[in-house]
Amino acid sequence: MTGQEIRAAELNPEQFIATQVAAIQEAVVEGRAINALSGGVDSSVVTLLGHRALGDRLLTYFIENGLMRDGEAQQIVESFAALGVRVEVVQAQDQFFAALRGLTDPEEKREAITQTFYRDVFGRLVRESGARFLLQGTILTDVDETVAGIKRQHNVFEQLGIDPQETFGYRILEPLIQLRKDGVRKMGEALGLPAELFQRIPFPGPALAARVIGEVTPEKVALVRQATAIVEEELSATGAFQYMAILHEDRVTGSREGRREFGHQIEVRCWDSTDARTATPTQVGWAILERLGQRLVTEVPGVVSATYGIAPKPPSTMEVI
Ligand code: XMP
Repeated sequence: MTGQEIRAAELNPEQFIATQVAAIQEAVVEGRAINALSGGVDSSVVTLLGHRALGDRLLTYFIENGLMRDGEAQQIVESFAALGVRVEVVQAQDQFFAALRGLTDPEEKREAITQTFYRDVFGRLVRESGARFLLQGTILTDVDETVAGIKRQHNVFEQLGIDPQETFGYRILEPLIQLRKDGVRKMGEALGLPAELFQRIPFPGPALAARVIGEVTPEKVALVRQATAIVEEELSATGAFQYMAILHEDRVTGSREGRREFGHQIEVRCWDSTDARTATPTQVGWAILERLGQRLVTEVPGVVSATYGIAPKPPSTMEVI
């Protein structure tokens, strides 16, 4: 069920918390539920809502899929320990890279991640824990884009006619399905998430795989991960909605120390948006772009070209796959 949209301006967080906590308790009458925490604002808010509703009956996992940003797992485990929530890290990088091997089509890559996540990794966790429910932070924008056929968001099933109970063997609860990103941030603040978590820029479910054009390999992810850290450091002061590094598939000719280098190209995107449905490139100052370019070609091995994306969404989307 999607229900009616609740706009951020009309959202009463205390009332929303009470309603959703009651709905979770009503659904998970006994036994356990599980959820995956990626550290993004949506899954962070669902984790706190779920723990309010179920306490220790909710088991929270961080799935190390090999596609996350630098230091993510440790940072999330520590932040949530400070909030009294235990997060268990599940090592699954080999499974994800095996599923992605040889795939170049964007929708096939997304599907491989979805199946590995929900069928393989969560299927096993559900069997081992005896849980019958998965709580997840799907928001309305995820549903819109999937139903419109623009991008198959990794976390949308029922709106596509897929019954998770039949397909994966567990039910999925989606307490944030009526909200968009601005509403979720308001909820994060009300639930006591620290500002660095509820104000965090969005990060997609398929993680850095959404930013690698062509086949996703551990080497390419390592490269885009390094570029991402630089882009996030340099652009956080812009206050933009989201910023990212993208690794292109085509190589281009460059030169270093007088020798030809057939190298990689990184595209930087930085977006102004309120709800991710439409977006425009941020007017980043030239000095910042120049420093970014310098850092990308000197600090990330093999990168000889860096560009800044200037197309709006639509027709662009924010991520590249
Ligand atoms: P696009 O690229 O579709 O992105 O313009 C819009 C917003 O959604 C995020 N995004 C995702 N979030 N699962 C998610 O939870 C996904 O599969 C996914 N794909 C994109 C993206 O980072 C942006 O904020």
